[in-house]
Amino acid sequence: MPSSPFTTRFGLALPIVQGPMTGSDTPALAAAVSQAGGLGMLGCGMRSPAAMAEVAAEVRRRTDRPFGMNLFVQATPTPTPDEATVQAALQRLAPFYAEFGLVPERPARWCEDFGAQFEALVAARPAVASFTFGILSAAQVARLQATGSTVVGTATTVAEARAWAAVGADAVCASGMESGGHRGTFLSPGHEAPPPGGPSVDDFEASMLGTLTLVRQCVDALPSIPVIAAGGIMDGRGIAGALALGAQAVQMGTAFLTCPESGIGPAYRQALTQAGPTDTRTTRIFSGRPARGIVNTMMDGLRADERSVPPYPVQNALTGALRRAAAQAGRADHLSLWAGQGVAQVRPLPAAELMALLAQELQAASA
Ligand SMILES: Cc1cc2nc3c(=O)[nH]c(=O)nc-3n(C[C@H](O)[C@H](O)[C@H](O)COP(=O)(O)O)c2cc1C
Repeated sequence: MPSSPFTTRFGLALPIVQGPMTGSDTPALAAAVSQAGGLGMLGCGMRSPAAMAEVAAEVRRRTDRPFGMNLFVQATPTPTPDEATVQAALQRLAPFYAEFGLVPERPARWCEDFGAQFEALVAARPAVASFTFGILSAAQVARLQATGSTVVGTATTVAEARAWAAVGADAVCASGMESGGHRGTFLSPGHEAPPPGGPSVDDFEASMLGTLTLVRQCVDALPSIPVIAAGGIMDGRGIAGALALGAQAVQMGTAFLTCPESGIGPAYRQALTQAGPTDTRTTRIFSGRPARGIVNTMMDGLRADERSVPPYPVQNALTGALRRAAAQAGRADHLSLWAGQGVAQVRPLPAAELMALLAQELQAASA
């Protein structure tokens, strides 16, 4: 099986990282992937510090293999949106809430406090601490490294990959536009520092690079640190392709979503297994940050508002109760159905069986 400095560092039998998936991964999934020779991950973007400690302990009860944890880098304290923006957003969402007999409300808070989550991450000491949506300071990277964590930063452009290398990250996850879930973009193209109010809609569009293009650019730009390829990788051929570009491992999200160990409900699971090859699109309407998911009624209904909904975390918090109600009612038409462009290739197998199949396919593709 192909090995690399990244796989050797963690004793991985396979160059496979299970993508962190906030709201959809579980300790059972992460532990099963790590136990099968990959690197299981916990997406903690929306987990409280106490929940982060609990899930890390749960993975450790299930396996003694290394695993990783991931956070959304957010400004602290969370910026407060103006009332007019919030009211306009609530009005836009009212007809969708009405479907469930609900009225949208201003939430008590917009998101978890990143500072407190970061402290919980340092205390949890996972083998890998990975980040998206922003960048850490060199001092924060050094703090994590001092407790033994390997720091991985998500990049959607080669400039973002260089920025992570400049603050001392140990590896970069190069996330192509095929990827399921949110774009990690944090720089405006042509600028080296994150813009104060976060990237604009145009910045996100300019940073939509495909995995094939992005991975080779990052590998060439950063010869001294490992690049992990993410986006559209669903089988052994995809893994072999990413390794041929110079990636030291791959990060796969969508492929693991349909494992029985994932935390998703039946409506989402069914939508994933029924989706066709052209059924995903990126949208801001659920969370205010572009994210790729399966097109549904809600995405279509708010299409005209793609540019006007407030940025993450405000829109995300405002749609939270709606998405919970839709999940409870088993209604996929009002859920955020995050999935990558490879969704038509999902194989709903237990994680250990999927890992064994990926190993076989990778061997065949590398022969
Ligand atoms: C449901 C879902 C949730 C995700 N949540 C996160 C997250 O919390 N943090 C993160 O860095 N990436 C997140 N991602 C991205 C994955 O970790 C991974 O990089 C991506 O899924 C790779 O592309 P693929 O879906 O085509 O395999 C998420 C992806 C999905 C599908």
